[in-house]
Amino acid sequence: MRSPVSSASTVGLLLATIVSSGACARAVTTAPSQAPERPASAATAPARPTSSPVIAALTSARAERVADSLLALMTLDEKLGQLAQMTGRGTQTGPAAPEGGEAQIRAGRVGTFLNIHGAAVTRELQRIAVEESRLHVPLLFALDVIHGFRTIFPVPLAEAASFDPANAERAARVAATEGSAHGLHWTFAPMVDIARDPRWGRIVEGSGEDPYLGSVMAAARVRGFQGDDLAAPNALLATAKHFAVYGAAEGGRDYASADVSERTIWEIYFPPFQAAVRAGVGSLMASFNDIGGTPAHASRWLLDDVLRRRWGFAGIVVSDWAGIEELIPHGVAASKEEAGVLALTAGVDVDMVDGIYADSLPAAQRAGRLPMAAIDSSVRRLLRVKYALGLFDDPYRRSDTTRERTMTLTAEHVAAAREAGRRAIVLLKNDARTLPLRKDLRTIAVIGPLAESAQTVLGNWAAEGKAADAVSVLAGLRAAAGGGTRVLYARGAPVDTADTSGFAEAARLARSADAVVLVLGERENMSAEAASRASIELPGAQLRLAQRVLRAARASAGGATKPVVAVLMNGRPLATPWLADSVPALVESWFLGVQHGNALADVLFGDYNPGGKLPVTVPRATGQVPIHYNHRNTGRPPAAEDHFTSKYIDVPWTPLYPFGHGLSYTTFDYRDLQLSAAELRAGDTLGVSVTVANSGDRAGDEVVQLYLRDDAASVARPVRELKRFERITLRPGESRTVRFAIGAEEMALYDVAMRRVVEPGAFTVFVGTSSADTREARFRVTGDTLVLAPAPPRIR
Ligand code: BGC
Repeated sequence: MRSPVSSASTVGLLLATIVSSGACARAVTTAPSQAPERPASAATAPARPTSSPVIAALTSARAERVADSLLALMTLDEKLGQLAQMTGRGTQTGPAAPEGGEAQIRAGRVGTFLNIHGAAVTRELQRIAVEESRLHVPLLFALDVIHGFRTIFPVPLAEAASFDPANAERAARVAATEGSAHGLHWTFAPMVDIARDPRWGRIVEGSGEDPYLGSVMAAARVRGFQGDDLAAPNALLATAKHFAVYGAAEGGRDYASADVSERTIWEIYFPPFQAAVRAGVGSLMASFNDIGGTPAHASRWLLDDVLRRRWGFAGIVVSDWAGIEELIPHGVAASKEEAGVLALTAGVDVDMVDGIYADSLPAAQRAGRLPMAAIDSSVRRLLRVKYALGLFDDPYRRSDTTRERTMTLTAEHVAAAREAGRRAIVLLKNDARTLPLRKDLRTIAVIGPLAESAQTVLGNWAAEGKAADAVSVLAGLRAAAGGGTRVLYARGAPVDTADTSGFAEAARLARSADAVVLVLGERENMSAEAASRASIELPGAQLRLAQRVLRAARASAGGATKPVVAVLMNGRPLATPWLADSVPALVESWFLGVQHGNALADVLFGDYNPGGKLPVTVPRATGQVPIHYNHRNTGRPPAAEDHFTSKYIDVPWTPLYPFGHGLSYTTFDYRDLQLSAAELRAGDTLGVSVTVANSGDRAGDEVVQLYLRDDAASVARPVRELKRFERITLRPGESRTVRFAIGAEEMALYDVAMRRVVEPGAFTVFVGTSSADTREARFRVTGDTLVLAPAPPRIR
């Protein structure tokens, strides 16, 4: 059957038709109306993200008109087809539609794809959608573009270590430029889950343990992916994921239940999502876990009460991979239909891969078990997103073979990846100025199972990243070493087995070389999804390898003077107390992407002075987990001299390295910490200034960190919380006064009734170089308690 608009051969024409035709206008008025969204009263609706041009496009009258007009023409199957997301399949020539995919497109049974990219293939599938399907609705193509598309940047945890949102924004911009040139519209990033448990492998995908750092990075990445105009050919729709509390998986086991207090959810897990929404993120992904018994995919509280009503989110929610079907093993749905009804009515718009919406919901709707209004709301939201992406004006905008050819792995992108890598490296320890290494050494022994790998440096979720594009540690050091330096290599041991057969060769090399670089850690597939570890110590025989190598190096040097440097590569903090105690220099290099080896060599040889800081607390032992700097004090804070305090009897209570820690080849002095007032009224802004001087002999970066504590409040507060930071560069001898403004939002807490309030009383400001190395000043808030926002909707 031909539709009233089937003569329109392009979507542009379709758009013109549907917005101008009286028939469609009539259809709009007779179409089933959207489920009324309760108007959020001024009191319950904290700032809607209206400042974002992306949100303005999503919510524009024209987007609404296009969506309504199309909706009025759709059959039930076409509506549910829009909400169906299918995955592509890999072929020898690249990703392609799944078996029968073209027929599904023609029939209007699919609205979006993931895992299909490439200008030619997306153009052809798009052509089928806009020319051969009844309503010509364009498709969306999605992929996990997490830290780069082909030019792979540092993994997100590493990028957070740069404490540099501009750096993260740039990386996301490059990723969007490359991904969109390959026909993509949509990325499933940024992951903004807070992780306090490094056993959880997905800690590598986020910004670590701190909600403020996580929020700043979330907003930066959203801006980077989306830009100001979603319709621009180089913009990708961003996805804040996984909503929510996924990082609190019990025992650090991926997919496990999260059972944390509402307070912790609001204080710790929600802020980065809120920041992403404020930055105009166009989509969110539901998380696999349940929260206290309600799986996120079935949580009206999460997806409707909080996300749409409280935060005013106007974009789409996508399920995670088969997350709707998983409501059955979760034990909250007895059938696929029940699972689909639960998810859709909770607010999951797009059904990733399990086919439940398209297959099981038509019957549910016809039998009266699912209101049409719920389906319409989801379809409307998706169509508005397609509109905002510019697809109704030009569905082929991102499928352009010239852009694909010229915008991939460009010299500029690769240079940006190298800079991002340098900025992410954290110098954990550097006794006796072991680093930087001299460039005139005769021989350097590079030892360890990861040094040679050009795959591991890419990290997990590396999209189209290729080992052939990447620089291993060994290759980077060889390229950077002076002409007279021989860089020798011994693997020493495999990453994660007990094999010690390579120890003797490694020890021989360590004895003969002028300096030793040990490269230790985890392969890229030992963190990320479904890669939780019960022990976060160095795997396999690597620790013993390091011990043997250090012994050999010391024996040959007749003391401890031969430089020995340990470089860690990992997607989670590793508990390496022996290394920290014994090796004179320790460098955290994470997985830095295609330029890993070059970026690391820049740091090891001193061409770049490291300035990264830890975005996570590094424990001494797995048994300390969860360990995070912003814990509450308890009634019995740890004290060495008092047995009955909150600590262990077999390991110190302190971390191996605290959150925010990171050294430089120069030194910084802090002085003149000043507050603009000793007393202020709730709602007033406090000015904080501190002067930082580079007291060493080379230029360097320092991340100036500001923490705050409400000293006595109606509920116990964390011992300190990061509220501001700034990464600055200082020449030797240069000093700078850094100024921060601390407003009501920074001083606020959720009171016992969960209202957001600023309470009168004493506060302490801490400013310094890490969460454990600060100077402090105090101020008082006077007057009455100031209520910033009423209590949020309670969990249901
Ligand atoms: C992951 C998501 C990812 C999705 C699509 C899932 O297994 O949890 O983070 O976006 O797959 O690839």
